Amino acid sequence: MTETTAPALHRGAPAGEPLLHADDLVAGYLPGVNILNGCSLVLHPGELVGIIGPNGAGKSTLLKALFGLVNIREGHLTLAGQEITNMRADALVHKGVGFVPQTNNVFPSLTIEENLQMGVYQTPAKFSERLEVVLHLFPELVKRRKQRAGALSGGERQMVAMARALMPEPSVLLLDEPSAGLSPVRQDEAFLRTRRINKAGVSVIIVEQNARRALQICDRAYVLDQGRNAYSGPGRELMTDPKVIELYLGTLATDVDAARADAEAGAAADAAAQADTSPAAPVDGPEGTTPVDDEAPPASKD
Ligand SMILES: Nc1ncnc2c1ncn2[C@@H]1O[C@H](COP(=O)(O)OP(=O)(O)OP(=O)(O)O)[C@@H](O)[C@H]1O
Ligand SMILES: [Mg+2]
Repeated sequence: MTETTAPALHRGAPAGEPLLHADDLVAGYLPGVNILNGCSLVLHPGELVGIIGPNGAGKSTLLKALFGLVNIREGHLTLAGQEITNMRADALVHKGVGFVPQTNNVFPSLTIEENLQMGVYQTPAKFSERLEVVLHLFPELVKRRKQRAGALSGGERQMVAMARALMPEPSVLLLDEPSAGLSPVRQDEAFLRTRRINKAGVSVIIVEQNARRALQICDRAYVLDQGRNAYSGPGRELMTDPKVIELYLGTLATDVDAARADAEAGAAADAAAQADTSPAAPVDGPEGTTPVDDEAPPASKD
């Protein structure tokens, strides 16, 4: 990328050296087939950066390329100014990069605690100290730490996966669709948790299907389309950009709203059924809708 295009591409980014810098990446799975066709992003210390775009745009591929899981054919990737292009995932964990994949992100036959132990297999001496810090961020897991991860719900697995990625104390966390498959209430929790982790000092890149919600919490975002950068800028600016709305948020927002209304109706029916049959409090405690908004109070004390 040339210096003249960089400011436009990374509109709204802070000055100074980025923590993570992907420059014009070309990458793919099969020989001769590129999925990323010149994709760039910067993540500055303390930022929460979103990646949105249609299905198949290459969002997961980009995250995998950042984490050494897809071969980068052209372009460069640096971490704090140091070249890490095609560095292996285990070496990247050692350097402070954490990754939570979109699917298959826990060891189902292991307990929650054993899953968290896997997060620090490179530095087992840190286990107790990090466990305390991480469980503070995920108090829901404390009572259930001896349960097998395979017996957890989708939202709970997502928490375990995120907690495991945080165990080695990463400076950069890559999250692939942390809200996927969750009920609206659980989605709100996932977004709030992501923001809380970010506020605690971890720089985050979050890929999200739920574009509007992602843009609400992100400092900046990149819109990917066909393996290329289509738009970028501060999250709330993109939300109100007519072109972005028309091309990427319009129908998606309608779909999301419809899905949300469906899920809320389903959850209300479940709650009514539960109230009819069981007066006992739910295991996870009471739930309420939690708006993801700057003005919203935190879901729990940090
Ligand atoms: N393991 C793989 N082998 C070959 N092609 C793949 C593989 N994984 C993904 N692809 C292809 O790469 C393209 C981009 O996929 P990717 O998963 O990165 O998209 P995405 O933007 O994350 O989509 P979604 O929103 O559905 O998660 C798709 O055409 C997909 O078929
Ligand atoms: Mg994906």
